[in-house]
Amino acid sequence: MAKLWGGRFTKETNKLVEEQTASISFDQTLANEDIQGSIAHVHMLMSTAIITEEEGNTIISGLETVQTKLEQGELTPSIENEDIHMNIEKFLIDEIGPVGGKLHTGRSRNDQVATDMHLYLQKHTNELIELVQATQQAIFNQASEHVDTILPGYTHLQRAQPISFAHHLLAYFWMLQRDKERFEDSLKRVSGSPLGSGALAGTTFPVNRGQVANELGFDYVYPNSMDAVSDRDFILEFMSAASIMMMHISRMAEEMVLWSSQEFQFIELDDSFCTGSSIMPQKKNPDVPELLRAKTGRVYGNLIGLLTVLKGLPLAYNKDMQEDKEGMFDTVDTLEHSLMMLAPMIDTMTVKTANMKQSVSEDYSNATDIADYLVTKGMPFRDAHEIIGKIVLHAIDNGKYLLDLKLEEYKDFSDLFEEDIYDVLAPEQVVANRHSYGGPRNNK
Ligand code: ARG
Repeated sequence: MAKLWGGRFTKETNKLVEEQTASISFDQTLANEDIQGSIAHVHMLMSTAIITEEEGNTIISGLETVQTKLEQGELTPSIENEDIHMNIEKFLIDEIGPVGGKLHTGRSRNDQVATDMHLYLQKHTNELIELVQATQQAIFNQASEHVDTILPGYTHLQRAQPISFAHHLLAYFWMLQRDKERFEDSLKRVSGSPLGSGALAGTTFPVNRGQVANELGFDYVYPNSMDAVSDRDFILEFMSAASIMMMHISRMAEEMVLWSSQEFQFIELDDSFCTGSSIMPQKKNPDVPELLRAKTGRVYGNLIGLLTVLKGLPLAYNKDMQEDKEGMFDTVDTLEHSLMMLAPMIDTMTVKTANMKQSVSEDYSNATDIADYLVTKGMPFRDAHEIIGKIVLHAIDNGKYLLDLKLEEYKDFSDLFEEDIYDVLAPEQVVANRHSYGGPRNNK
C-alpha cells in the first residue's frame, strides 16, 4: 500500500520494520483527541485563510464521518498506515478525496501527537481528580462513624499509643488530598498547546496558535517550538504524581490486608470484594487490596520506563518518544480502576469495633500517658520515661497491664502517684487527652 510519506522511497517497507515502527495497535486510543485537534486546526486554517471556507468545511465533515465510522467499527485502522494520525488522514482522503490532503497544512505529526497527548492527559487527569475525591468521601464517611472507636496506633508495627479509627483513616484522606493537589497542579503544565510548532521549527504559514489553544481548552501555547515537540515532562509529572498516589494506596491496601487477617480481626471486607481458595474451603482472601498493593509496581515501572526512554535524547522529536504512550495509558487505566475499587471497598467494609477496643485494653500503649502524668506533677520527662519503663517491666513480669497495677505498686516507683493516675489510663481517656492540633481529638 502506498505510504502517505512514500514519495522519496523506491522500495516497499520491510514487513518487520512496519510492525516495529507502527504504533496503531495502541495509539488508536487517541482517535477522538486526534480528530478534535484536527478540527481545531482546520478552523484556524480557515480563519487565517490558509485554506478556503469550503475546503475547511468539507474536511471537517469528512473528519466527523471518519469519527463516526471508527466508533461504529466500519473503519479498521491498518498497520501499513503506521499510527492513528496517518490512518485518520488516509480515511479522510478516502472519504472526501484529495482536498483531505490539505488537513496537514502547517502541521507535523510531531506537534499533532504532542497535542493529542496533552488533550488525553488533561481529560483523564480531571476524571482522576474526581475519583480521588470520591475515595476521600468514602474514607470520610467511614471516619465519621468511628470518631469514638479506639484502637492501637502502631510504630514499627508495635503497639504505640491508642488512637481513634477516624484519626487513622483520615491520615489517608490527607495523603489523597496532597495527591489530588499534585494532579491539579500538573494540569497547569498539561494545559500548554504544542500545535503550530510544526516538525520542530514552526511553520511558514501564518498560523494562529492562540486560536487553536483556545478552542482546545488549553491555557497557553508553548513559547518554543522545539521544546513543544520534545516535551514529555507533562507525562512524567503525571506519572510521578500517580506513583506517589499508588504508594499511598499500597499502604492503605496493606493495612486492609493486615486488619482483615485472623491475627488482627479489625475489619471484615465485604464478600463482594474478596475471593475464595480453590482448595481451602474456609478461605476468604483479600485479593483486591493485595492487587492494589501490587499494581503500584507497574505504575512505578511506567515512570522509570519513560524517564529512561527520554534520558539523553537529543532535540527535537525522536522516534523513541513513541514509547511514551503505552505506559501513560496503562498508568491512567490502573489508577482509574484502583480508585474505582478502593472507594466502595472502604464503604462496604465492616469495622469490628469490639476487637479494636479489646486490643487496646490488652497492651501497654498508655505508658506515655503515665509519663506525662508524672511530668504534670513536676518530674522531668526523661526521668519519668525511665520510671515508667521500669513499671512496664514490673507489670510484664507479673502478667498485668498498667490499669491492673495497684496504687501501692505505683507508689513503689514514685511518691508522685495518687489515685487520679487511674483517670488518665483508660484508652478512651488517653485518646480524649490528645487534643493538640493534628491529634485525634482535633479532628472532631
Ligand atoms: N506515532 C508517532 C509517535 O507516537 C507520531 C509522530 C511521528 N513523527 C515522526 N516524525 N515520525 O511518536
